[in-house]
Amino acid sequence: MDIKQAIIERHSVRKYKDDPIPAELVEKLGELIRGCNEESGLHMQLILDDPGCFDTLLAHYGWFKGVRNYIAIVGKETLPDLDELGGYYGEKVVLEAQRMGLNTCWVAGTFSREKCKAEIAPDEKLLCVISIGFGEEAGKKHKSKSLSKLCAVPAEEMPVWFKNGVKAALMAPTAMNQQKFYIELSGDEPVITAGKGPMTKIDLGIVKYNFEAASGHKCK
Ligand SMILES: Cc1cc2nc3c(=O)[nH]c(=O)nc-3n(C[C@H](O)[C@H](O)[C@H](O)COP(=O)(O)O)c2cc1C
Repeated sequence: MDIKQAIIERHSVRKYKDDPIPAELVEKLGELIRGCNEESGLHMQLILDDPGCFDTLLAHYGWFKGVRNYIAIVGKETLPDLDELGGYYGEKVVLEAQRMGLNTCWVAGTFSREKCKAEIAPDEKLLCVISIGFGEEAGKKHKSKSLSKLCAVPAEEMPVWFKNGVKAALMAPTAMNQQKFYIELSGDEPVITAGKGPMTKIDLGIVKYNFEAASGHKCK
């Protein structure tokens, strides 16, 4: 599966089968996460077989079931743009996981921060987690705001690469499906900015990753 297909097929999945993630996929994910951490300075961690983190009223309320594995998005509070970095690299892992046949869900609220087994140094912060495993189902397409609300460029004036990027941005996961971002074209350069509100900077990183992966053009 190529990355564009992974973007189309990725939906939040909250119910998981008991099947463990096979060792070869655990190794691949581990390598990927190590690479992302080296590049970004983040301290993302894959935590396996820890149902406790999602064994809370909040998680049940959020309709999570069978979550035993998750990726903790952790980083030094002093890292510039920590939220955006976490979103960007977390989404890279999410889309690679999708290509491996795994399902995921970004989770900032409906899990237990106290029971999370990630190592978090005193100068680090846990942004959120991403549940990961084999889903009971594949999830479904989210409702999206209209193109004109999210992008300044009229569809008929978009270069093909830009249109591919915008389509992928609209398919990106955002907290509470808020889609508080705006896409512009400055000369040849795509520019994506975040709206105001909680988690919009994490969303911004996620949306930028989707845009770049589908368009092949780096965002500002
Ligand atoms: C930063 C972030 C935090 C999220 N937190 C939660 C959460 O706490 N609980 C939950 O059930 N879903 C959470 N989600 C999942 C969103 O609700 C979901 O991505 C959105 O509704 C779009 O649906 P989709 O991912 O299927 O495309 C979160 C998503 C993001 C990007």
